[in-house]
Amino acid sequence: MPGVLLGDVFPNFEAETTIGRIKFHDFLGDSWGILFSHPRDFTPVCTTELACAAGITGEFKKRGVKMIALSIDSVEDHTNWSKDVMAFNGETGTPLPFPIIADDKRVLSVQLGMLDPDEIDKDGMPLTARCVFVIGPDKKLKLSILYPATTGRNFDELLRVIDSLQLTAQKKVATPVNWKPGDKVMVIPSLSEAEATALFPNGVTCKELPSGKKYLRYTQP
Ligand code: BEZ
Repeated sequence: MPGVLLGDVFPNFEAETTIGRIKFHDFLGDSWGILFSHPRDFTPVCTTELACAAGITGEFKKRGVKMIALSIDSVEDHTNWSKDVMAFNGETGTPLPFPIIADDKRVLSVQLGMLDPDEIDKDGMPLTARCVFVIGPDKKLKLSILYPATTGRNFDELLRVIDSLQLTAQKKVATPVNWKPGDKVMVIPSLSEAEATALFPNGVTCKELPSGKKYLRYTQP
């Protein structure tokens, strides 16, 4: 089955986009990257998603994450659709602040395992699902999320997971359920008590459990 798995080097594909032809790794440079796919241009849920993404580009920039979208229409369609997206945001005349890949031959959608077999166009061809790939500065896949065409994504959640990915890439911690930046984090299980004490100057607290096992260890990063 085509697709990219966590830890794989993300394909260094070439593609036409609304900012010209790109080679993906050159586009990313040394940054983190987020690639999010859409079923089709000029569709309602996709328009709300792209508009939301455009409205919070500053948040992605702050985190050093380059944004790029993809759908299975042409550059010309993407350029025209972008005008609708920005008008939806009340910013008529402002360009969309990130490029869109034109995957009108579905080459990337097949290579990256992004097609949704339940969403068929008038020609009987599958549309793209709502995929999200977060790529690290080492060009490896750090996170993938796959939603069907009929369910729009939560871009606040995407920022939250990027915060977790960037924190856990730097420190030997993991973020618990519903974690938000500023909350306590968990010490990863592979660290010994002595290593944890040495690594976390803010201290480590351990929750007592019926098993007596000391694995629920919190620290303030
Ligand atoms: C939408 O973006 O609104 C959409 C696209 C394809 C199928 C269902 C909804």
